[in-house]
Amino acid sequence: MTDLWQDAMDHAVALARKAGQVVREALLAERSVMTKNSCVDLVTQTDQKVEQLIIQSVKEKFPSHKFIGEESVAAGQPSALTDLPTWIIDPIDGTTNFVHGFPFVAVSIGFTVNRQVEFGVVYSCVEDKMFTARRGRGAFCNGEPIQVSAQEDVRQSIVATEFGSSRDPEVVAHIFSSMRGVLSIPVHGIRSAGTAATNMCLVASGCVEVYYEIGVHVWDIAAAAVIVSEAGGVLMDVDGGDVDLMSRRVVAANRKSIADRIVKEIDSFCPVRDDAPPPRAQ
Ligand code: IPD
Ligand code: CA
Repeated sequence: MTDLWQDAMDHAVALARKAGQVVREALLAERSVMTKNSCVDLVTQTDQKVEQLIIQSVKEKFPSHKFIGEESVAAGQPSALTDLPTWIIDPIDGTTNFVHGFPFVAVSIGFTVNRQVEFGVVYSCVEDKMFTARRGRGAFCNGEPIQVSAQEDVRQSIVATEFGSSRDPEVVAHIFSSMRGVLSIPVHGIRSAGTAATNMCLVASGCVEVYYEIGVHVWDIAAAAVIVSEAGGVLMDVDGGDVDLMSRRVVAANRKSIADRIVKEIDSFCPVRDDAPPPRAQ
């Protein structure tokens, strides 16, 4: 199986590069914007086109493999993680950035077997940074090994988090309550790249100590999860337990002690899981 997964990973890298080229070209053109679950949950034809490009190509090469793709799920495909080899795809992580030309957009491709991420590829396509990791074999950016920050003191840390795509007043209250707690530790700063995958790659690269968010989806974090752990970082749930990729909650940090300290400040809640059954028609 080993060589088969390497073949799959090489294919993912090639596809991420090709997809990134499409995204870069689309950034120079007019973009028509649609909405999904809320008025700030954006999607464009480029998101859909790039996801199709990736899925079609993988289907030809690996016909038995399964998929969880952001735009396919939005179109009604199931979002269930099984033990089967599964490609988890976000064609554009940072769609709001893409719409506005804010220069952090990533193509994210994760691959799981037995529900464990075997490899992850995150291509930050404006920066032209290709982040890759295969389980047990280290993490890389453009082929160079990367490592998390050696910082031990949370008060000398940069924390990344996001505002997500819900403007429900209760959700917003949780977000600000957590941010108030984190800022009061105090920490050096809070940052938002506007893409979960990029925030996690910033942790893996050592320029951000910790990233947390509630409301992300599995396609935002699957690929980057293995990149963080292979760079020496830790993943955990926002309440401190084991991370669950389908729970829509994540903390990614350079070390456990920093993750533990941040978790104490997170005003947590439970969004509807990615693998929740669809609501029944009334
Ligand atoms: C979003 C981005 C954003 C995060 C949201 C994600 P999308 O993904 O990663 O940073 O706050 O939770 O859904 O919609 O741009 O693919
Ligand atoms: Ca997306």
